[in-house]
Amino acid sequence: MERSPFEADLASTSFDEIILQQGELISDKLNMLRMEQYPPNAEKGLRQFSLAEVAYFLGVTQSNIKKLHLEGKGPEPTTSKSGRRSYTAEQMLELREYLDKHGRAGKSPYVPHRRDGEELHVISVVNFKGGSGKTTTASHLAQHLALKGHRVLAIDLDPQASLTALHGIQPELDNVPSLYEAIRYDEDKVSITEVIRSTNFPNLDIVPASLELQEYEYDTPVALTGSNAKEGRLFFTRISNALKEVDERYDIVVIDCPPQLGYLTLTALTASSSVLITVHPQMLDVMSMSQFLLMLGGIMKTIRNAGAQMKLKWFRYLVTRFEPTDGPQKQMVGFMQAMFPNQMLPVQMLKSTAISDAAITKQTLYEVERSQFVRVTYDRAIQSLNAVNEEIVELVHQAWGRK
Ligand SMILES: Nc1ncnc2c1ncn2[C@@H]1O[C@H](COP(=O)(O)OP(=O)(O)OP(=O)(O)O)[C@@H](O)[C@H]1O
Ligand SMILES: [Mg+2]
Repeated sequence: MERSPFEADLASTSFDEIILQQGELISDKLNMLRMEQYPPNAEKGLRQFSLAEVAYFLGVTQSNIKKLHLEGKGPEPTTSKSGRRSYTAEQMLELREYLDKHGRAGKSPYVPHRRDGEELHVISVVNFKGGSGKTTTASHLAQHLALKGHRVLAIDLDPQASLTALHGIQPELDNVPSLYEAIRYDEDKVSITEVIRSTNFPNLDIVPASLELQEYEYDTPVALTGSNAKEGRLFFTRISNALKEVDERYDIVVIDCPPQLGYLTLTALTASSSVLITVHPQMLDVMSMSQFLLMLGGIMKTIRNAGAQMKLKWFRYLVTRFEPTDGPQKQMVGFMQAMFPNQMLPVQMLKSTAISDAAITKQTLYEVERSQFVRVTYDRAIQSLNAVNEEIVELVHQAWGRK
């Protein structure tokens, strides 16, 4: 019987060489495939938003917006043959600014930028359970916050770079610098401003991720014991220090953490104003989360004793990929609500094929066209995402002392 090339290789070559060769082979082939699918200079666009969506994101009625248009005020929307108006995300911002200047006094601001005394709000999305919905939560949250008029910075802290890819950046192809460049220990460290990129959403910037982020996990223990151990011991200040440089530019930062409780996650948590722990409501996932909490609590205590100043304003558990018709899942949610009545977000992110299908084409539900989906499926999913994100906006505004 003929031996496969793999077996033949095994006989003559060492494992590490085979692994390296195969890694390169896969990477080359994938790059070719991606080059064909997304040319490097392809820019991700953004669809137009319907009148109903604009009304929702601005918090005004549709008739209000129609009236403005008829009076020739604010931006000029695109009008379809059947008379339907739609606006670009930039026009939504313009309309926000127009309303802020000319709207009724006493209402909550249409441009919700933070004001004096309101601190940059940093939200970390964490759990060491892979696939618990961190990236889905972080991407929809960051985009929702931006569409609601906040200035948002999303940070992809996961070397797998899923959030980065969702925003049309291909780390391997584009050779993008990640946050690692702004938190590294050597003299090559740069300002965070050099690693920030704009996205297809006008109010949303991103710090992409790439594999090099993993270096931080190796560098930190070395720094902790090296000649400059004092700097190493303060590792947990490295993200908050980097963020100080752009404090004025943003209202909210959303950090998508890797599925592990390493130095990257700990450094993000120390920079955080709030934490969202995503959990899929199944026994094994909840058990794993309990392990995560025990470890996290212990480590946070240790780093606080080492001088870290935690500035957490709130933390919440967010149930993800929830199927309300699934008895055991419903029971698990009830169980968690009974245990942590104050920390459970009162709404859940429903499981939906609209969300997973959009993800296949590297899009969020805020990017896809509603017409591409079965209406009820899309509506149910977007309502669930909006409800989750609205709760979070509320918590951020409360942390700022509003209302
Ligand atoms: N509400 C949902 N409905 C349907 N599919 C979902 C939903 N949320 C997430 N998914 C899908 O589940 C998978 C895992 O989600 P996601 O990437 O957000 O998890 P993660 O916690 O970031 O994973 P990792 O730990 O690998 O970073 C993805 O394929 C995503 O499209
Ligand atoms: Mg992820």
